[in-house]
Amino acid sequence: MDPNPISTGKILSPLDAATPEQVAARFGELRKQFDQDTAGATDENGWKSLRDAWLGRKSGVLTQVTDTWLKPSKPELKRAVGQSLNELKAHIEAALESRRVAIEAAAEQSVLAREREDLSLPGVARPLGSRHPLRQTFEEIERIFLSLGYSVVSGPEMETPYYNFEALHIPEHHPARDNMDTFYMAAPQGASPLLLRTHTSPMQVRTMEKQQPPVRIIVPGKVYRRDNPDATHGFMFHQIEGLAVDTDITFCDFKGTVEYFVREFLGPKIKTRLRPSYFPFTEPSVEVDATCVFCGGKGCNVCKQSGWIELFGAGMVDPAVYGFVNYDAKRYSGFAFGLGVERLTQLKYNINDLQLYFQNDVRFLRQFA
Ligand code: PHE
Repeated sequence: MDPNPISTGKILSPLDAATPEQVAARFGELRKQFDQDTAGATDENGWKSLRDAWLGRKSGVLTQVTDTWLKPSKPELKRAVGQSLNELKAHIEAALESRRVAIEAAAEQSVLAREREDLSLPGVARPLGSRHPLRQTFEEIERIFLSLGYSVVSGPEMETPYYNFEALHIPEHHPARDNMDTFYMAAPQGASPLLLRTHTSPMQVRTMEKQQPPVRIIVPGKVYRRDNPDATHGFMFHQIEGLAVDTDITFCDFKGTVEYFVREFLGPKIKTRLRPSYFPFTEPSVEVDATCVFCGGKGCNVCKQSGWIELFGAGMVDPAVYGFVNYDAKRYSGFAFGLGVERLTQLKYNINDLQLYFQNDVRFLRQFA
């Protein structure tokens, strides 16, 4: 059904009434028609054409009523027609206004409904970073040694030659100083020069200076050497120093600790072996090897067919060091080790280029999430 037949231009039929009752009846029809039209006006556009159809000045229904019913009506009916016309007009105006208010409210409701936030929906997930592989190695190693009763301490990266060398039994002109090409800092006149520590071992001395045995510490941190960066070298890398001193610590304790650590870190199938080595501050000194993580000991390119991979340096604390820290070398004994964090991480994750750790390429870092 055309919701608004009058707006299509339908012309009113003549009033054709003889009594006021008949007038009222004709106006009743119009009113009914208007109410029907109103029901069809459900949005702003519908409402506007409804208004124009009924109130439009040129050809709206009320104008037609005025022109074709009121003006030519018989004098005795004019009053009744005029009154009905006014009533109809009042009805139309009131109805249009309440219709307008209703349409506006409905429109606002639908905007609100569209824009409503559902607070029960899960939030937008932000991409999470991952812990750096070196950080993960630090945490894993710290976890292992904390479970053995060690505590974690840290020390200065700027060191004196005394702690970095002398007190570790590496006197000036000792060839071991050449192996660790050192960054020296310019010192003010008369002041003794500082250097960037070449290893974490100075913390052995600093710790023992402050504290009598028992000592069980690990020292994670950065160390610096004047090396040109390549796949296996960097001017900065990370170590974790370990030191245990007490009465009756033997080489067996040392070996047991090392084996336990390596199995925990690299897996239960990994075996260790100790190879004689040399460090000025340990005696005897060893290099700890592990069965090659890549071939399981059968021999491959990485282990140069030997089946073994070099892990880190260690040894029993040289009694000469106790002399620098006032420890009774007859009463106490202990062991120390220096783990290379990049190296251990490389073996765990098969990383073939040391520089990858420091380039912050997310494609690399994401693999360790
Ligand atoms: N400080 C030695 C190095 O950096 C490693 C080490 C630490 C060796 C402790 C023995 C004992 O090469």
